[in-house]
Amino acid sequence: MTQASGDPNHRIVMLKNITRAQVRFTGSEEVVVVPLFEGKLELKGAAKKLDVLCRSGIRSYAKTASFTAGVGQTSLLAFQLPKAPNHVLLVGLGKKTLATPQRFAKAGGAASRQLATGGFRVCHMLIDGVLEVDAGQDLLRSFLKGFMLAQYLFSVTQKRTEKRGLRKLVILSEEDKSLARIIRLSRVTAEFTGAARDLVNRPANDLTPARMADEARALAERNGLICRVLGRREIEKLKMGALLGISGGSRTEPRFITLHYNKGLSGKTGCPKVCLVGKGVTFDSGGISLKPWQNMNEMKGDMAGGAVVMCVLAAAARLKFPLEVIGLIPCVENMPDGSAIRPGDVITTYSGKTIEIISTDAEGRLILADALAYSSQYEPDVILDFATLTGSVVVALGTRIAAVIGNNQGQIDRLVAAGDLTDERVWQLPLDESFSEMVKGDISDYKNFAGREGGTITAAALLAEFVGKTPWMHLDIAGTFWSQDGKMPYQPKGATGYGVDLTLRFLEMLASEQAVG
Ligand code: BES
Ligand code: MN
Ligand code: ZN
Repeated sequence: MTQASGDPNHRIVMLKNITRAQVRFTGSEEVVVVPLFEGKLELKGAAKKLDVLCRSGIRSYAKTASFTAGVGQTSLLAFQLPKAPNHVLLVGLGKKTLATPQRFAKAGGAASRQLATGGFRVCHMLIDGVLEVDAGQDLLRSFLKGFMLAQYLFSVTQKRTEKRGLRKLVILSEEDKSLARIIRLSRVTAEFTGAARDLVNRPANDLTPARMADEARALAERNGLICRVLGRREIEKLKMGALLGISGGSRTEPRFITLHYNKGLSGKTGCPKVCLVGKGVTFDSGGISLKPWQNMNEMKGDMAGGAVVMCVLAAAARLKFPLEVIGLIPCVENMPDGSAIRPGDVITTYSGKTIEIISTDAEGRLILADALAYSSQYEPDVILDFATLTGSVVVALGTRIAAVIGNNQGQIDRLVAAGDLTDERVWQLPLDESFSEMVKGDISDYKNFAGREGGTITAAALLAEFVGKTPWMHLDIAGTFWSQDGKMPYQPKGATGYGVDLTLRFLEMLASEQAVG
């Protein structure tokens, strides 16, 4: 039997923020991280003081040709001087003018990995250089997120690497620019991105729909959310025909998870009410329309959308966002079996509309149809859905940018802006009547497959039929939920946790604009 890593301390560095007005060094520091921009060397404030203690060792080394401060380049210097730390880790941020959240997350990740390799347990970090640039606060958040997430490790073997990794990060700064807030936000973002990764990485024989519901309950308990889980009977009573249809082939029963943060707050204060819907397919074999074997293991992560929703709700509660947020996660396993749904079958969804199954592998849009229709009872101001929905999106946008499709340009613009401030970017794809035409059914209202062309858009076109007029955005995260190569230092092979940072930033923007307007 498999066992998942449960101890949160093993996946994320504990960040202890000590912000000192006057940064002092004692000489007992094991290692001090110094981020540097490419180009003309600038050592200011605390970094300058440090260099004096190091008898200009930093300056003279940073000027060597071998260290150019390119993005993520690192150099570990050792000192044996009375007041100098034992080590200084230089980390390159690249050119100041080219700074992006992704470059900074990468640099933070590279520094963090270097420290883990060196066996360091405690590190100090000078961050004033980062704060100097435009949007320095956002870049610092990315740097810290990258730094913390690079320590993420998922393993199901007993012999865990308990002793590995950093334990403590002390941030040294002479600035005060709401640093405590930045640190808190980065820390919570990293923690819940890690939690989402854990859910996605857990094998499907461990993380069944029932276990997903257990996790939702636990998150709710710890963070003060209301959680309600509907079992098969209740799902039957509600006539969620799509969710039931897909669950037919599996031995493990479906669940419909609802999470509620700040229930009733919108009615009281007029704050925005947001509904987040996440695809929760704990394993997608394709069903009777069975997938080929290649990379099928990755389909244990076909609940990544649901993981994002659960973790964003918990994080929003932890950060006390002044919003009302509802999470809906239809959970099911898609398997072939004698009682599985077949191509040609027609199902009646929760809304009463019918869909003909052309491919049982286009299951995500079906269960989302039920969940989206169910969301209307909450009368939200905006709906976002997250789903590893189509292989087509990987062809269209690759593995670092997710697709967004929706019916409200203002909200889409806000989401795109949130993506640009984090390292989780989104790109809008179009949706119009011609695509809606393509999903009209021949013998039923709709069909669940409309050809390979524009596959990401036709999938969204079907979802749109179950949303109505409420502002809605669909995120296809099939390209971004998983890292096959682990090349980004803060994203090891496997789940990326994509979507948590993006959505938290979107909610943060929504909350603050509300307060202004
Ligand atoms: N879960 C898959 C989509 C997917 C593919 C996610 C690759 C992550 C990586 C989805 O259920 C699916 O099978 N989509 C089909 C739809 C097709 C049958 C219309 C696809 O994209 O091939
Ligand atoms: Mn599928
Ligand atoms: Zn799927």
